[in-house]
Amino acid sequence: MTDPAEAAKRLAAARAVDLVRPGMRLGLGTGSTAAHFVALLGERVAQGLKVVGVPTSERTREQALSLNIPLSTLDETPELDLTIDGADEFDPQLRLIKGGGAALLREKIVAAASARMVVVTDRSKQVATLGKFPLPVEVDRFGLESTRRHVLAAGQATGCTGEVRLRMNGQGQVLVTDGGHAILDCVFGRIPDADALAHLLNAIPGVVEHGLFIGIAKAVIVADASGVEVIGDLN
Ligand code: A5P
Repeated sequence: MTDPAEAAKRLAAARAVDLVRPGMRLGLGTGSTAAHFVALLGERVAQGLKVVGVPTSERTREQALSLNIPLSTLDETPELDLTIDGADEFDPQLRLIKGGGAALLREKIVAAASARMVVVTDRSKQVATLGKFPLPVEVDRFGLESTRRHVLAAGQATGCTGEVRLRMNGQGQVLVTDGGHAILDCVFGRIPDADALAHLLNAIPGVVEHGLFIGIAKAVIVADASGVEVIGDLN
């Protein structure tokens, strides 16, 4: 693998696969780093490992099915042992921005159903203050412009500046998530008080979920050319 970022993602994913034990109920994340984890998990399953996975997106479901990883749903399997997922950013308190791949709603539901969520990432996602990556907010498509203004006001009330943009897909249409919603990207540059912003976003009618994951990740496995570092507690 020549791309150093992809090599780092693979390394982090490989460390995460070592956490998997026979019989585990796993949340399967979304994105390029989580895809490395799912690929490596598929290899273990092919060798006889027995686990069951709950995917956080249709994309991940398709990948897992192609690798013959047994799948379930949260209706059949409402409590999971471990979720492995990527992140767009993480800070020293292991607060995350997620949703760059538009899967944040299912990702948060699956993480919340898990005894442990462990993030796999390359070093580029590590920040002192969240917000350089635009914060995704999943919203109902009804009343989009009103909701956008409320989201912008929530940002301003918590010390953020910048814009809130409706995410479009590659065909120039409004991007629609697996859950049938739209995504607003908050281009703030810096989120000085992520906890307060999360609190205000939770209270906006029309906001289905936001990409601030606070108090959810137990550990981050971060890799770069020099190796793997674990931040937090893997157990
Ligand atoms: C998906 O909605 C996101 O939360 C991803 O987990 C996040 O964007 C990380 O993706 P990469 O591993 O591709 O950077």
